[in-house]
Amino acid sequence: MLRTHTCGELRIQDVGKKVILAGWIDRIRDLGGVKFIMLRDRYGLTQVVLSSESQVELRRESVVQIEGVVRERPKETINRDLPTGEVEVVAEKITVFSSPIRDLPFYPGETKLPSEDVRLRYRYIDLRRKEAMDKIIVRHNVAQAVRNYLSSQGFVEVETPFLTKSTPEGARDFLVPSRLKPGTFYALPQSPQLFKQLLMVSGLDRYFQIVRCFRDEDLRADRQPEFTQIDIEMSFNTREDVLQVTESMLRHVFKQVLGLELSGKLDRLTYDYCMNTYGSDKPDRRLGMEFKDVSDCFKDANYHIVSNVLIQGGVVKGFAINDFSEKMTRKLADELDEVAKSLGLGGIMWFAVDQNDTLRGSALKHLEKNYKEIMEKLSMRAKDVFILAVGRNSSVNIVLGEIRKILGERFFSHLKTGFDVFWVIDFPMFEYSEEENRFVAQHHPFTMPNLEDLEKYKDSDLSKIRAQSYDIVINGFEVGSGSVRIHNAELQREVFKLMQLSEEEIRIKFGFLLEAFQYGAPPHGGIALGLDRLVAIICNVSSIRDVIAFPKTSSGVCPLTGAPDVVNERQLKEFKIKVGGD
Ligand code: AMO
Repeated sequence: MLRTHTCGELRIQDVGKKVILAGWIDRIRDLGGVKFIMLRDRYGLTQVVLSSESQVELRRESVVQIEGVVRERPKETINRDLPTGEVEVVAEKITVFSSPIRDLPFYPGETKLPSEDVRLRYRYIDLRRKEAMDKIIVRHNVAQAVRNYLSSQGFVEVETPFLTKSTPEGARDFLVPSRLKPGTFYALPQSPQLFKQLLMVSGLDRYFQIVRCFRDEDLRADRQPEFTQIDIEMSFNTREDVLQVTESMLRHVFKQVLGLELSGKLDRLTYDYCMNTYGSDKPDRRLGMEFKDVSDCFKDANYHIVSNVLIQGGVVKGFAINDFSEKMTRKLADELDEVAKSLGLGGIMWFAVDQNDTLRGSALKHLEKNYKEIMEKLSMRAKDVFILAVGRNSSVNIVLGEIRKILGERFFSHLKTGFDVFWVIDFPMFEYSEEENRFVAQHHPFTMPNLEDLEKYKDSDLSKIRAQSYDIVINGFEVGSGSVRIHNAELQREVFKLMQLSEEEIRIKFGFLLEAFQYGAPPHGGIALGLDRLVAIICNVSSIRDVIAFPKTSSGVCPLTGAPDVVNERQLKEFKIKVGGD
């Protein structure tokens, strides 16, 4: 080895030892007679002392090797913020491995960082920062804990193809042209869904894979075009088995990586409950602000819009926000009104209890004395605010959910501490796609529907059929999603037909799956968790880009390599592809 110790290792017990360190020069302080270097590697920083006679020319971020002797730092120069801060190495020999030939675009040792675009353009420099590299190491620790846990439970890791056929997870595919069969394309997998199901047909009853998935969709802080799933599938199991395994795996990960016990059994909330209570299927429950139906308080209200809505079976719902009256300005109320309008409602109503128990707000004139009933119903106190929306239950839920999210992000980040982990179950099997003018699978079409619901509603209202599916939600993010699967070709065909897929489409897209099911398929089910999202939550960062070594920007570009890029004519010719006009 070119070093005996790392830069994070030396302690007072090492005083007197002859050591060799290697790393980057983080900072140089020249005090005339003597130079101090902060030498850095991914483990930490160590101070090195050079005599002024040293002729070696050193620059910040030069990569050097230092041979020297460890000595105790004089009392007044001890740095308590640094694990190595009680010692320094007196250099006897210094070798420069390489030196920057120009100034760096930014220096990892500095607190003021350039924009994310610049950091991603020079990600290899960005990753020299301990805070940046530590997240990549946490990612490794999480993946390792997952592998260890699942292997200990008899799961076998199997790699499935990347050059494959389209898998329907709801996004667009990334396509790869085939040179050997010009005019045809592979699709990069949106998930290994079909292959893991085929492995169940093969009798591998416990599969997992930590696997890259590819989806061409609009990007956000929690979405990348290539991301990693912890993909799991089991045979001869019930929903309960998948929930148990996932829960135990998460407990193991939190314990191993953070030393934290996830207490108790995880809550299981139905999709309907989440939508009715938080207006979201992935609520951040740490914010509180649960919705209450206060339609009763309005039944005598002298306000025709509300009475009309109530007569038509609509609702008046809202939520209280504690200690918020000072922040509830006219301007904010107008902004929230606009949010409601953009989502199809007429607006919102609200009232605030000011400090001296006086009330103000747009809802008051319609409430007469009923606000007292609302206040009692919700145990409201001075300084609380109540925000209401009126309309069809589903629209009211969406509007209140959006407002709750906006207020949570802007005013209540201090409530977002710790981990809130729970299950959402009983999702609808189908949702109506305005774009495609037909029902599509809410999770994916391989999900087992609730069979009683299927019988009851298949000819009348597909939106009422529940699926045997489940999501794991942590701190307001959907971290994982899965389901019990259909393992019978007839039922699978029926579900495809309910989605109005033609025989031809079924044959071309999923013929191989239906064929496999005809040769003996076990009952099976599974889940996939987003590794990037899980690690981002564990690291408490708001973007998954921070936990990916070389992420893409929000426009899907890699600033470092310049991908995606044009290719040359010769390559295009080989694929018989012409790039051109519209
Ligand atoms: P789903 O499509 O819900 O399910 O994906 C599972 C999990 O993968 C993560 N995820 C993403 N993370 C980052 N960027 C993205 N673009 C992205 N898309 C999804 C999320 C999500 O919960 N085959 C099914 C799973 C199954 O049924 O077993 C599937 O892929 O955390």
